[in-house]
Parts: sequence; C-alpha cells; structure tokens
Amino acid sequence: MKGIILAGGTGSRLFPITKVTSKQLLPIYNKPMIYYPLETLLKAGITDILIIVAPEHAGDFVNLLGSGKDFGARFFYEVQDKPEGLAQAFMLGEGFIEDDHVTMILGDNIFEDDFSEAIQTFESGARIFAKQVEDPHRFGVVHFSEDMVAEKIEEKPEHPESDYAVTGLYIYDSSVVEKAKALKPSARGEYEITDLNRLYLDDGTLDVAMVEGAWLDTGTFESMYEATEFVRSRELGIG
Ligand code: TTP
Repeated sequence: MKGIILAGGTGSRLFPITKVTSKQLLPIYNKPMIYYPLETLLKAGITDILIIVAPEHAGDFVNLLGSGKDFGARFFYEVQDKPEGLAQAFMLGEGFIEDDHVTMILGDNIFEDDFSEAIQTFESGARIFAKQVEDPHRFGVVHFSEDMVAEKIEEKPEHPESDYAVTGLYIYDSSVVEKAKALKPSARGEYEITDLNRLYLDDGTLDVAMVEGAWLDTGTFESMYEATEFVRSRELGIG
C-alpha cells in the first residue's frame, strides 16, 4: 500500500493568510496542518508517501518534511501546476503508484480514527469513508439504501438526499490510474473524485465505511479554529 497526501490547492477561503504560504503549512495548535494527515498514513503502516504540492510552495514542503528519514518513511514529491481537481492526483501519481494499492488523504483533513485495519485488509476496488454532517451540500454525498448499501454519490448537491459526506481519505486499487485518466473535467473545470468514486460504484466495487471519531476539514477560518481547539484538548488531555 502506497500513500498520497494532496497538499496543493489555492486555499482561497483562507485569504489573506494563504497569500504567501500553503494552507497545509499553517499551524493547527502545535504542528503544521500536513503533519496530521501524514500521521494518519504513518500510523497505518504506510511508508512510501507521495506529497503533491503547488509549484510556488514546493521548496517549503521539502524543507519541512525532507526525505522522510526523520519519520521512518520515504517521501516523494510531485508538483501540480494548476489545481485541477482531487482526481488529478492519480494522473500525477501514475509512476509512483505502479501496480500497488494507494491510500490518498487530503492535506487539510484531520481524523481521530486509526485506519490501520481498513487499510491493511483492503484487497481490491475502492474503499471510502463517510460521516454524517450538518452541511452535506459542501461535500460529496453518499445516499444509502435501507440496508446501508451505497446507491448514489453526488458532488455538492443543492438538495442532498442524505447527510453522509464523503471524507478526505480514499483507498483504491491500482486501476485508479486508468479510471482517473478516463475522466472529463466537470462544469467547474476539475477532475472530480466523486466521478472517480462513481466509476467504482457502477462497477459494484465501491465499499463505503464509516468514520467513527472526529473528522475535521480545516479549509475555513471556523474549521481551522475548531481543529485547533480539538487538537489542543487532545494534547492537554482536557475536554
Ligand atoms: P479544497 O479545500 O477543495 O481547495 P483549496 O485547498 O484550493 O481551498 P479553497 O477552496 O479555499 O480555494 O481542497 C481540498 C484539499 O485538496 C486541500 O488540502 C487542497 C487539495 N487540493 C489539491 O492539492 N489540488 C487540487 O487541485 C484541489 C482542488 C485541492
């Protein structure tokens, strides 16, 4: 199993603090944001990790994280010239993934759960993780049948049919590269991970598991503030 951290993007919702630096380098309590998704992958035993970055901040990521030696891992870097969507990670990552399985995590997502078992027991197809939220229209949304089989998946629907958001951790078999290459950009000009997940859903090989613990997506001022409070409480053993 290989790992990818997607740490490009523009971070426009955090302007002006992302004007001269990457969102994923901003602090969440006592660590740069990217340390949290990195720890999620390392905890699950993944040691070959591709970090995808925007060109203007590539040097800062290398300065911060280096070769991976200090983390007991090997880090590889790929530049995403333009933020053209989450699924582009698998086009950029083709040479890195080869014939292996891959777990991708978004560089601005913090999970409380330990995904070791879900990652280590993965065999084929795709496994994604959902969580009930109050504002599903901001995310990819999964709709389940009565017996909790995933039936439909939609990107930022205006009128969500469920409140299960797709979180930023995705496990795929190596067919993800060919599937990603077959995608067409959406109306907003992005290669959508929801379209990729739909290809697995249509194949009958999409497994949707649940996130049990906290999930924080730190892309807005409010969510960054909440994440900082969450990590602070955990670090200090309070709350
Ligand atoms: P988003 O939060 O959707 O996008 P963003 O980080 O550019 O922020 P904003 O919407 O405020 O402009 O991205 C989710 C994560 O994926 C985040 O860690 C950045 C990363 N990302 C990329 O690396 N490349 C991309 O093409 C996109 C769309 C996102």
